[in-house]
Amino acid sequence: MSAQILDGKTVSEHLKDEIRARIAKHIANGQRAPHLVAVIVGNNGASETYVASKERNSKSVGMDSTVLRFPETMTEAELLAEIERLNSDLSIDGFIVQLPLPKHIDAQKVTFAIKPEKDVDGFHPYNTGLMLKGIDTLLPATPYGILLMLEYYKIETSGKNCVVIGRSDIVGKPMAALMSRNAYPGNCTVTMCHSKTNNLEFYTKNADILVVASGIPEMVKGDIIKPGAVVIDVGITRVDDASNPKGYSIKGDVHFESAAAVASYITPVPGGVGLMTIAGLLQNTLKAYETKK
Ligand code: GUN
Repeated sequence: MSAQILDGKTVSEHLKDEIRARIAKHIANGQRAPHLVAVIVGNNGASETYVASKERNSKSVGMDSTVLRFPETMTEAELLAEIERLNSDLSIDGFIVQLPLPKHIDAQKVTFAIKPEKDVDGFHPYNTGLMLKGIDTLLPATPYGILLMLEYYKIETSGKNCVVIGRSDIVGKPMAALMSRNAYPGNCTVTMCHSKTNNLEFYTKNADILVVASGIPEMVKGDIIKPGAVVIDVGITRVDDASNPKGYSIKGDVHFESAAAVASYITPVPGGVGLMTIAGLLQNTLKAYETKK
């Protein structure tokens, strides 16, 4: 392996130390702690894992954290009423509704119902619009976390070719927008690739910065990566693995060993972008709290 690891643990711990210190200052000044709420509907193993991690991390920086669990049978109207309650509760600074939602609930309606000032996932179209216009706002937590990581390692982005694989609303689209904006990190020439892209290798071999958010475990191998590239792996898929006591292991969208042999920097899975998503969420929650005051 020749690549340097972009270590989500180191960066997220550093950011959490900063957040913890800021919160301690607010509390010393007589303010209450920031309060983050996570809503989870139904039983999804991966969602439970994410939400448990969000709760643990928000508490570790001194935030109040509440998880609201509702049964799979909750109706859309009931969830929208719950969101209305969270929107108007002055003791709550930010909240997220964990995705995926049960099929009978329209996730778009739910996203639109969240008050933009409390939308610490950065999913509301009002926040998307501000982001696209380059106006300071709550950014989607995963792309924001990736920016924070690039910044921590002082990775040069200006003038670089950045290829984003994936066009989801929560990662691919905002990531491409942020990497092309006139700021640091940014100022890249961005190409977005997706499932209908012909000759993917043509693009990836020219990518100085490669962000992979396809959701396909280990789809990008070292042979299609430009030597010296910075490789950001957003994937976290549970793959059956009889050799693991849990019965599964977590795979990224990048084949780590072959990619690390050619890249200059690479994020591991786990221990990379997943931790940065949490850091992005905590930064957003602190921002929502400080903006409100
Ligand atoms: N499901 C997978 N990732 C996320 C996320 O960042 N936020 C929410 N709310 N749901 C998710």
